[in-house]
Amino acid sequence: MNKEIQEKYDELLRVAQDYMQRAYSPYSKVNVGAAVLTANGKIFGGCNIENASYGLTNCAERVAIQTMVATGEKRFIAILLTANTEQSLYPCGACRQVMTEFADDMDPYVIIAPRSGNIEIHRLSSLIPHQVRIDDL
Ligand code: THU
Repeated sequence: MNKEIQEKYDELLRVAQDYMQRAYSPYSKVNVGAAVLTANGKIFGGCNIENASYGLTNCAERVAIQTMVATGEKRFIAILLTANTEQSLYPCGACRQVMTEFADDMDPYVIIAPRSGNIEIHRLSSLIPHQVRIDDL
């Protein structure tokens, strides 16, 4: 983890934990919170939002990234994920692809911060090899 992200780690965790409280998950009862950090130091949060038509569920990561984009920012350098589950919860494939679209060139950090405290730090490119990229179309 680089220094800039290390300095923001506590704030990222706090935002993700705050947003986790806002999860709308009456079906799975899994509450997820995410926080994205932009290259210019802004942080945006998201929570999972489920739906009675299950497939319309939005994951916390996509909500956070979409909020970032709707606010006028297009690149993130790190995303932190936390959940009320015992085990680490990893981003789903759809979220990994959406992250790719708005990833900073530095290859963002994906930080998994489970309740257990066993934090894992990955680089996005290691979680989704052979992504579909804008330049490939
Ligand atoms: N979920 C997320 O929000 N992010 C993930 O990384 C994995 C799964 C949500 C979707 C659903 O509301 C619940 O967790 C159970 O899958």
